[in-house]
Amino acid sequence: MDRDYFYSIMNGTGELDYELYLDTPKILSAQKPFDQFCNRDELQFQIIHQVEELWMKLAAYTLLDIDDFIRERNANRVMTLFRRVQMIIEMMTTQLGMLETMSPKEYQEIRLQLGNGSGQESPGFRTLLKMPKHLWDSYVSAYLEPDGRTIEHVYNSGYAHDDAYMVAECLVEFDELFQKFRFHHIQLIHRSIGMEAKSLKGRSVELLQDGMRTRFFPALWEIRFKMTDKWGGEYGTVRESIGASKKGSGAH
Ligand code: HEM
Repeated sequence: MDRDYFYSIMNGTGELDYELYLDTPKILSAQKPFDQFCNRDELQFQIIHQVEELWMKLAAYTLLDIDDFIRERNANRVMTLFRRVQMIIEMMTTQLGMLETMSPKEYQEIRLQLGNGSGQESPGFRTLLKMPKHLWDSYVSAYLEPDGRTIEHVYNSGYAHDDAYMVAECLVEFDELFQKFRFHHIQLIHRSIGMEAKSLKGRSVELLQDGMRTRFFPALWEIRFKMTDKWGGEYGTVRESIGASKKGSGAH
């Protein structure tokens, strides 16, 4: 195929309404010019990172709306919008896998282009990391405090599968999917540069392991083991086997 011809039409003319509304000239010129890529994988590398930034922008924007609706106790809106955010994070996670089609050597060539840039500088990620604290404060002041409830009440003693529970589960799902993204990102590093390598900031990639252990909403995770301890406490830590109790009752 005539590469120069296709390069010349790939970015469009920028004159049609579709192109004008979506500002395709800006989006499609946000990558290096074709003759400046260090290898055949660099366009993929740039586009995946750019698309991930766009998804994080939409996730952060949607979380602002979610926060408004939590404060209004509008659970239907919260659940619909959280589904959108969950889908975004799932797509972001799947897209990481695409970078595993790049060989370790080709990544080393691209890495030389990055200066000392790092994912830690991602504006989308930095914004998202700041939001859970505010979401949690809104949840507590909208769903717990006005009714004098606790997380224990929502999940156990006053459990009713109600709005307070459903919104809490949306927060948990968000937390879990974020961890899955972090986990897959670490797998990607294993696959491309190796986890033991020094990062471009000269800092150990151990910091990523710390991120893996971070929970946005610890109280929503703690309630699960607290319930297990409490319910388990009622029959002790060592339980009789189901078979033994059946034998005792004469059942077969
Ligand atoms: C081959 C591809 C990739 C490699 C080898 C890689 C490698 C790394 C490494 C070594 C770090 C840790 C410390 C540092 O250097 O700053 C890091 C952090 C990070 N990367 Fe990547 N990354 C890749 C792709 C991506 C993609 C596609 C995203 C998309 C969003 C991303 C987002 C991040 C974020 C947000 C951090 C900071 C994490 C935190 O502070 O917890 N990375 N990456």
